[in-house]
Amino acid sequence: MKILVLNGSPTPNGNTIALVNAFKEGAESKGHEVNVINVAHKNIKGCMACNFCKRNNGQCVQKDDMQEIYPLIQDADMIVFASPIYYFIMSGQLESVIHRFYAINAPEKARYSALLLSSYSPNVYTGAIAQYKDMIAYMGMSDKGIVTADNSTNKTPAKLAEARALGESL
Ligand SMILES: Cc1cc2nc3c(=O)[nH]c(=O)nc-3n(C[C@H](O)[C@H](O)[C@H](O)COP(=O)(O)O)c2cc1C
Repeated sequence: MKILVLNGSPTPNGNTIALVNAFKEGAESKGHEVNVINVAHKNIKGCMACNFCKRNNGQCVQKDDMQEIYPLIQDADMIVFASPIYYFIMSGQLESVIHRFYAINAPEKARYSALLLSSYSPNVYTGAIAQYKDMIAYMGMSDKGIVTADNSTNKTPAKLAEARALGESL
């Protein structure tokens, strides 16, 4: 499968990318192709609700870095959302990317999804997981797994093994 990981963490070598790298290692070991896009380092604005896309065959009027991500979304068989928890939801940078799915409504090919979350506190995932589950159902994708890590488990061998195992399970 072609797997697109949308990483919403701005932190290089941080906790979220550690989960992403472990997942990637596991998935690649099973022959999958994994493309990680660090969306927090891109110039991607929020949706303007102008509905230009609805009148123009799914083309977004905003010519920012989302334009290079749309083809990757359309080419992927699986989309992984990875993010630190910011105030009980995914990062604003990743939320902007999600809102920009509005132009295409749903990925053309992708049927599978997964969620990787890192936080400081435990039990702060209700909002992000609820959004993820409703969103992927709306987009026609099914969940392959959710990995969460807090301060007591971030970057621990056991947690990285869990993320790697999710990749290997595909
Ligand atoms: C703006 C901001 C908001 C945050 N909000 C929360 C929060 O609501 N709950 C929590 O447990 N951690 C929160 N954190 C901590 C991060 O989720 C945590 O440090 C995470 O591991 C960072 O991942 P990273 O290393 O990929 O940046 C917040 C951090 C920042 C910068």
